[in-house]
Amino acid sequence: MILENTHQRSITRTADGTGARILDQRRLPWEIVWVELRSARDAEVAIREMWTRGAPLIGATAAYGLAMALAEDGSDASLDAAFALLAEARPTAVNLRWALEQVAKAVRSLPPAERAQAAFARADAICDEDVALNKAIGEHGLALLRDLHAKHPDRPLNILTHCNAGWLATVDYGTATAPIYLAHDAGIPVHVWVDETRPRNQGALLTAFELAGHGVPHTVIADNAGGHLMMRGQVDAVIVGTDRVTANGDVCNKIGTYLKALAAHDNDVPFYVALPYTTFDANTATGADIPIEERSGEEVTHVAGEGGSIRVTASRAANPAFDVTPARLVTGYLTERGLLDKI
Ligand code: MRU
Repeated sequence: MILENTHQRSITRTADGTGARILDQRRLPWEIVWVELRSARDAEVAIREMWTRGAPLIGATAAYGLAMALAEDGSDASLDAAFALLAEARPTAVNLRWALEQVAKAVRSLPPAERAQAAFARADAICDEDVALNKAIGEHGLALLRDLHAKHPDRPLNILTHCNAGWLATVDYGTATAPIYLAHDAGIPVHVWVDETRPRNQGALLTAFELAGHGVPHTVIADNAGGHLMMRGQVDAVIVGTDRVTANGDVCNKIGTYLKALAAHDNDVPFYVALPYTTFDANTATGADIPIEERSGEEVTHVAGEGGSIRVTASRAANPAFDVTPARLVTGYLTERGLLDKI
């Protein structure tokens, strides 16, 4: 059974204002379970074990985690310890450190007793800002999708996406999905090819759940199907999110994104990357300098689905979770400032 999509912001403060409330994404789309995070340690576990995920959303979660640590103890030592704990939770998405730095900067000069309140306020602002950024990305993307659809007005516009860069990966709207939602709402007929995104299946489990909830026509495909569909003219554009874009425009995203970019390039299919400025890392020169998260091989040896997980191989498995798409394969960067051909 797929539950009805109860779309709302993916993170909020708890009703009493002293914690953060998130969806346990490990249980979607089978169960909708909201979880209350009550400490920096709770936030760290939720990020590391991917109860919550997606570059902007782990940043927002970490920001609340730091605020919770300061509510317990507003000292410099507490601030530094919680910062280090949360920054280590996952290595690849730059938004995590960005959000922690924002909160730390907002409170460092304040007396310890005033820090928690200021930290929560900054975390709230990070969330509000994320929603506004994604909406702006969506509006620029809508213009792009309108132009693409005008080339073949007699049929739906076919977009391929990888992983989940939707409202479940951000605070709302998503990055890659924002243009899709706005185009659908504007009456442009959009159909989305959803890569299942092994090993954790964020496409099949999360993106498909979101699109179904919004009424957007979509089809889940095996990760290896994209090249074939592009060769047959069944993909008008690829739009993906990203965990970090480096100074030279290299794009780090979920493992398998690079192969989609190669296939798109070979088939003259435009390849767009949607990102807010919070995902741009001017301090890292190229994709080669990005730490790539290695996750447990068990995510590969087992497949999780409704009712639990099953083992699909008896062998050892490796599990690099991200790859880097070189800037030369990117047609454009869809940002809150518009569609840029260079970043
Ligand atoms: O490992 P995940 O599920 O956190 O990976 C998420 C992605 O790769 C997303 O595509 C990326 O963070 C962009 S989210 C707007």
